Amino acid sequence: MKKLFIKTYGCQMNVYDSARMAELLAPLGYGATDDVSDADMVILNTCHIREKAVEKIYSELGRLKRLKEKRDVTIAVAGCVAQAEGAELIARAPQVDIVVGPQAYHRLPEMLARLARSGGHALETDFPILEKFDVLPKDTTPGGASAFLTVQEGCDKFCTFCVVPYTRGSEYSRSVLQIEEEANRLVARGAREITLLGQNVNAYRGEGPDGRTWSLAALLHRLARIEGLSRLRYMTSHPRDMSDDLITAHGELAELMPYLHLPVQSGSDAILDAMNRGHTADDYRRIVERVRRGRGDIAMSSDFIVGFPGESDKDFEATLALVRDIGFAQSYSFKYSRRPGTPAAAARKQIAEDVKDERLQILQALLCAQRVRFDAGCEGRTLDVLFEKPGRRAGQAIGRTPYLQPVHVEGAASLIGEIRPVRVEAVFPNSLKGSLAREKVLAN
Ligand code: 5AD
Ligand code: SF4
Repeated sequence: MKKLFIKTYGCQMNVYDSARMAELLAPLGYGATDDVSDADMVILNTCHIREKAVEKIYSELGRLKRLKEKRDVTIAVAGCVAQAEGAELIARAPQVDIVVGPQAYHRLPEMLARLARSGGHALETDFPILEKFDVLPKDTTPGGASAFLTVQEGCDKFCTFCVVPYTRGSEYSRSVLQIEEEANRLVARGAREITLLGQNVNAYRGEGPDGRTWSLAALLHRLARIEGLSRLRYMTSHPRDMSDDLITAHGELAELMPYLHLPVQSGSDAILDAMNRGHTADDYRRIVERVRRGRGDIAMSSDFIVGFPGESDKDFEATLALVRDIGFAQSYSFKYSRRPGTPAAAARKQIAEDVKDERLQILQALLCAQRVRFDAGCEGRTLDVLFEKPGRRAGQAIGRTPYLQPVHVEGAASLIGEIRPVRVEAVFPNSLKGSLAREKVLAN
């Protein structure tokens, strides 16, 4: 058997794509390895969202070049760096055999065959997206208790800092029936939880079985009916697409977990405007308030950018004020990174690196304190936990609460794939510890 090593960078959509690539290559005799020095083929599934991500790929390719000098290994670069850099990648790193964009990776087998026949390099960065989902293999081998399912790709929002509209193309939604079929298959393979993925997942507008266009809320209601599927999640969303039916769904659907990742980026209206986000800080506050009215315990999560061009101390203060008002259970914060080709990269008022560093530190300290407080609030509570994998110690299993916190539980190793009430006994910086509870959980 040939060995395949895949390294995944960036978002969950890449995690999904990596799994699909592994499935595509399995019939060609490739089995997974986690030892790169042993691989016959290496795929770097890349992310282009921030500058450092690109540089990381080039240094990884430097290491792979040395590996290639020792053994015959096929090197492929997939994902958004492949899409953005294209032929430039092969020019700068000729050890790369294959460059394949996120909408073209279903052509990998054919590209490998072409390489075997005539050598050289293979490059595919088209957007034949309709074709991709039709030809991906339909895997039936057992999978995990928690699975990802891409329902939407691309973005038409053009936030002025972001490369995604250029690397992933315009918004496209898969049909409800195609998604339902994949969800049924995932459940048959053992999934109890499915996270619907999309760069702009709540902009989902897919063809329904009745020929009309369905919203994400309608899709969630439909999937919630699948027998054996206990949990639904979705990410990543845009505040502009938090439609009334989606907000209501949080109060109506028990399967929809009380966790919402809703990036806000900044709390300053001037900066939100310069980012072309299309909403104000108060719009965001109102959305969260409405979601909380239906689902009081919802755990909010967000993305933030500090040091966007023109961000004053006052703008930054407004971000801190928004964070204090909302209270986040989880968050991701970044220093603004100048991406060539995006409008903000050309802005004159770029922020000095040391100012960005300082603001990031202040923001992260506040967000970290909020996360600690949220986790601490779970101590002593009994929460439903979906067990996903064995822990490090014998007999131990690791699962997740409805709020996505990892929990370690002794004596739960035989419960992988099941949902059980767990009493939270201790809170650590990145996880919780609990024990199996006897009582039934009435509400999550
Ligand atoms: N600089 C910093 N952060 C960025 N993000 C996207 N583009 C940039 C950039 N140029 C962040 C946003 C987005 C998350 C996925 O990455 O916060 O929500
Ligand atoms: Fe990028 Fe904005 Fe689209 Fe999100 S909504 S992918 S940040 S352009």
